[in-house]
Amino acid sequence: MGKFLCPLFISFISVLLCCAASASPWQTIGTGTSLQVDHGETFLVSPDTTFSCGFYPSGDDTNAFYFSIWFTHATDRTVVWTADSGLPVNGHGSKISLSHEGNLAFTDVNGTTVWESKTGWGKHTTVALLNSGNMVIKASDSEDKIVWQSFDWPTDTLLPSQRLTREKRLVSQSGNHFLYFDNDNVLRLQYNGPEITSIYWPSPDYTAVQNGRTRFNSSKIAVLDDEGRFLSSDGFKMVALDSGLGIQRRITVDYDGNLRMYSLNASDGNWTITGEGVLQMCYVHGLCGRNGICEYSPGLRCTCPPGYEMTDPENWSRGCRPTFSVSCGQQREDFTFVKIPHGDYYGFDLTSNKSISLEECMRICMDSCVCLSFTYKGGDGLCYTKGLLYNGQVYPYFPGDNYIKLPKNVASTSLISKHHGLTCKPNASKVMLVSIDAYRKNSDNIMWAYLYVFATIIGAVELVFIMTGWYFLFKMHNIPKSMEEGYKMITSQFRRFTYRELVEATGKFKEELGKGGSGTVYRGILGDKKVVAVKKLTDVRQGEEEFWAEVTLIGRINHINLVRMWGFCSEGRQRLLVYEYVENESLDRYLFDDSGTRKLLSWSQRFKIALGTARGLAYLHHECLEWVVHCDVKPENILLNRDFEAKIADFGLSKLSKRDSSTFNFTHMRGTMGYMAPEWALNLPINAKVDVYSYGVVLLEIVTGTRVSSGITIDEEDIDLMQFVQVVKQMLTSGEVLDTIVDSRLKGHFNCDQAKAMVKAAISCLEERSKRPTMDQIVKDLMVYDNEDYHPAYF
Ligand SMILES: *[C@@H]1O[C@H](CO)[C@@H](O)[C@H](O)[C@H]1NC(C)=O
Ligand SMILES: *[C@@H]1O[C@H](CO)[C@@H](O)[C@H](O)[C@H]1NC(C)=O
Ligand SMILES: *[C@@H]1O[C@H](CO)[C@@H](O)[C@H](O)[C@H]1NC(C)=O
Ligand SMILES: *[C@@H]1O[C@H](CO)[C@@H](O)[C@H](O)[C@H]1NC(C)=O
Ligand SMILES: *[C@@H]1O[C@H](CO)[C@@H](O)[C@H](O)[C@H]1NC(C)=O
Ligand SMILES: *[C@@H]1O[C@H](CO)[C@@H](O)[C@H](O)[C@H]1NC(C)=O
Ligand SMILES: *[C@@H]1O[C@H](CO)[C@@H](O)[C@H](O)[C@H]1NC(C)=O
Repeated sequence: MGKFLCPLFISFISVLLCCAASASPWQTIGTGTSLQVDHGETFLVSPDTTFSCGFYPSGDDTNAFYFSIWFTHATDRTVVWTADSGLPVNGHGSKISLSHEGNLAFTDVNGTTVWESKTGWGKHTTVALLNSGNMVIKASDSEDKIVWQSFDWPTDTLLPSQRLTREKRLVSQSGNHFLYFDNDNVLRLQYNGPEITSIYWPSPDYTAVQNGRTRFNSSKIAVLDDEGRFLSSDGFKMVALDSGLGIQRRITVDYDGNLRMYSLNASDGNWTITGEGVLQMCYVHGLCGRNGICEYSPGLRCTCPPGYEMTDPENWSRGCRPTFSVSCGQQREDFTFVKIPHGDYYGFDLTSNKSISLEECMRICMDSCVCLSFTYKGGDGLCYTKGLLYNGQVYPYFPGDNYIKLPKNVASTSLISKHHGLTCKPNASKVMLVSIDAYRKNSDNIMWAYLYVFATIIGAVELVFIMTGWYFLFKMHNIPKSMEEGYKMITSQFRRFTYRELVEATGKFKEELGKGGSGTVYRGILGDKKVVAVKKLTDVRQGEEEFWAEVTLIGRINHINLVRMWGFCSEGRQRLLVYEYVENESLDRYLFDDSGTRKLLSWSQRFKIALGTARGLAYLHHECLEWVVHCDVKPENILLNRDFEAKIADFGLSKLSKRDSSTFNFTHMRGTMGYMAPEWALNLPINAKVDVYSYGVVLLEIVTGTRVSSGITIDEEDIDLMQFVQVVKQMLTSGEVLDTIVDSRLKGHFNCDQAKAMVKAAISCLEERSKRPTMDQIVKDLMVYDNEDYHPAYF
């Protein structure tokens, strides 16, 4: 009889307890307790109410619930743990209960147990939710021993003090991305999709050590502490930007596959990202699906390569499919390649060859019927043919290009079709140096354009902006040392400085290096002893966001012949740019040095400077994703480093020192008048050819050592630039030696072939616009004569 009555009695009690629970949830419960989903949602709360545990509605279905733990006070009630059942339960009649045996179970209405703790320590068992967010089952008869805890069964989130250890892993909600310790003791992120599995963090291109990790600590423990430091036994460290006690934080492998640290704003219940594992989202594998390409323009986006289309217009993870079908019987003549500049697909190489030409690489892919594309890196002649296309990305600093193999008819239509801007097609790439004001649609004044001409590719590239605003807000001071190396490093070196830092670095702006239209430059020394040039911009009227976007664009431009920007500062009205310090002064001081205090530039130095300047400009003009017209090429803007290599300064700056078109007038430009192409005065659209013109003038000045831009004296007669050009042209056609025009201070020590090539190039640059060569062409023409040893010509 007792046996019969007892369960009835118990369930009566538990119903009572249930009702109490819905009013005020338990902090600890004992055996025989249960909660039905109909009677409330909260089963347990932590003593300080930070965490709650109970029924959590499944997103899309109002009648389906999970058993979860969440942040009580977060606006979105962020879930930190879910009973690993895979299935939700019915919203009516399902329950959570702690049985007399001490087993915590989650039961569907039809009696199916969808999850259980599998503990059985008897009737003295209790369940509690601790302030840490850890739900623990204790067996009180054995000295409060914890027999089960939710911290041992992480889902996608780690809470402070919760340890990620060797047998555990975090899994993103998509189920496709894992954080775990691999066999080498390294903490990794892995993509595990329906078709492929691949590791993407830390960078698989580098060794553990290169990634800042160690393989030799086999303890395999990663834990977030209360101060916001996430430390892993392999040396990985992520510190919250708001590090310190008293803030709720979590580490989550997000749906998109990135590992992020979040901090809760206690006053409004919103989360802020305060740390991030993969700094560039395109490195997360699986984002754009098979054949898809990830890029930033300006935000993160996926595109399909030429000849391919989205498989499922709703869902990028399904990638792209070819719009054509091929069979192995087809003739190789039927195929061609379409270049995706700076594109690459990670992995799945059919062959990899070194030191071969682009043509050979094409042939290898052409000859293989399973080859879909290849990536070629010019410098080392590296060739990777691809049998599958996954993890595609376009990254402006990738030192290679991808070539997609397409049937000829498909290639030609895909070239014409507008649908993406990834390819720098031969024709498309010539055009569209759209002035930024056209781009911004707010001015039709061409003079205004003078100040802000930036190039953009038609239909394709808006400002390429690798990192979004919050990236700067939250990341800049906290770059994990595991940052990928090499070219991937480039963006990370770029950072935001505080005004105070720069005041300190420059000793309160003590040592002035120079002054220009856009601002004054000071010498500074950073904390790490790096010498920099700090430019204080005058008259910047841009908002923060705009300034950041543009400065980032410039900051990402990196070439040996361009002055590197290390960072910027934007605080209140202050706008400063931090540049690499270039040891020697600008070219004009050497070329037109009347005082005779500076060393005369030798001929070989001059040629090197001419070629370097051309290379720098060619990079600005022809780099596919970010075209910049300098607009103010002149010797003052060509700096010389210790080895007298040219470094072009101030590119892109016209855009930052946003001056009002109404206050602009020509008198401001007088200093550089002689370098301006005639089209400035005509109401013509401005394109890269204005730089080619200015370069031509500079080239003549390098050869002659005089300011030809403001006229020149020949045979005691003053002539202007155009007359001088006529004179030089005649000399060239009549085969006359150039001795009379080459800088007489060189006393005939110059290389005749080089001089001729330079003068020829200069003349062609000063032609009418359509006849001017591109900077690429000039580089090619000059390179023919680039040899270190010169043959002096004496007369
Ligand atoms: C109980 O319901 C679930 C779905 O709600 C179902 O998957 C399961 O098979 C059912 N079990 C029984 C024993 O009917
Ligand atoms: C290994 O990592 C653990 C946890 O980070 C640390 O406590 C321990 O000192 C490390 N061991 C060695 C030999 O570095
Ligand atoms: C928290 O939110 C409040 C209200 O939205 C805001 O004023 C405050 O700046 C936020 N604090 C932090 C640290 O973001
Ligand atoms: C906080 O989040 C809520 C809802 O998610 C949103 O409406 C609100 O604007 C956010 N507040 C801030 C300061 O971001
Ligand atoms: C997108 O496709 C993937 C892979 O086929 C699938 O797992 C996922 O559920 C889909 N997502 C949506 C929102 O349809
Ligand atoms: C390229 O490498 C493959 C092996 O990966 C080799 O068989 C082939 O001969 C190489 N081709 C050339 C042109 O070097
Ligand atoms: C590129 O331009 C040339 C000459 O201007 C033209 O013949 C050719 O058809 C163009 N190619 C494409 C793909 O538009």
